[in-house]
Amino acid sequence: MNILFIGDIVGKPGRHAASGLLPVLKDRYSIDYTVANGENSAGGYGITPDIAKALLNMGIDLITTGNHIWEHKDIIPYLSGSDVVIRPLNISPLAPGKGVAIIKKPGLQPLAVMNLIGRVFMPPAECPFHTSLGALAKLTQEYPDVRHILVDFHAEATSEKQALGWFLDGKITSLLGTHTHVQTSDEIILPQGTAYITDAGMTGVVDGILGMDKEQIIPRFTTSVQRHADVAKGKEELQGVVVTTDDRGRSISMVRIKERI
Ligand SMILES: [Fe+2]
Repeated sequence: MNILFIGDIVGKPGRHAASGLLPVLKDRYSIDYTVANGENSAGGYGITPDIAKALLNMGIDLITTGNHIWEHKDIIPYLSGSDVVIRPLNISPLAPGKGVAIIKKPGLQPLAVMNLIGRVFMPPAECPFHTSLGALAKLTQEYPDVRHILVDFHAEATSEKQALGWFLDGKITSLLGTHTHVQTSDEIILPQGTAYITDAGMTGVVDGILGMDKEQIIPRFTTSVQRHADVAKGKEELQGVVVTTDDRGRSISMVRIKERI
């Protein structure tokens, strides 16, 4: 199968780039499933039900999130009822929504997607290593036909991401990093068949700072005034990866996508 993963979609320009480039990329890479991180899709912070629906309507099959998931309060009831918008698994068991979901299309093998969040330089969370092992054991027991498992690891520290990649090698199809918004060039198929990249990149304006207006972000450092910034304006890019897998759910190859609209 060919799985397209779109790196953090930032604001309206990110949604615009995704909607414009999705048909092109789906056609070029014969994409079977599309997964995107949408935690910055609403004005750069969080996601709303309407924006989640718009992303799904443009052809994204499942949306992962991260630390900004609770930014807009109307996402809370929506998450509770959604099977295709998920939040990090390794937070409180009382949190609304789910951290693992399975999507399936006719004629294709099912794809399980797990969303995890890091613990280094991130808000408090349970251990992603032990949480993922437990969840994988449960998944294998309850859904033995699921061989393809994509993990979005939303984390800051490169070391934590690489450690989880190697820890889960052979147990999952791919571990794709998000949150840092800068695509890394370390994509690799690990020895047991897990595709790994530290950060899949950002979908939005590349003239800014992580997709946000640089004229508002620079003063956060120079003045110590920490305020939300607006989404940047300028050149839009879709960044992500395409993972190609075999029937056993092992990855064969991964290519990085950096496509200007
Ligand atoms: Fe994030």
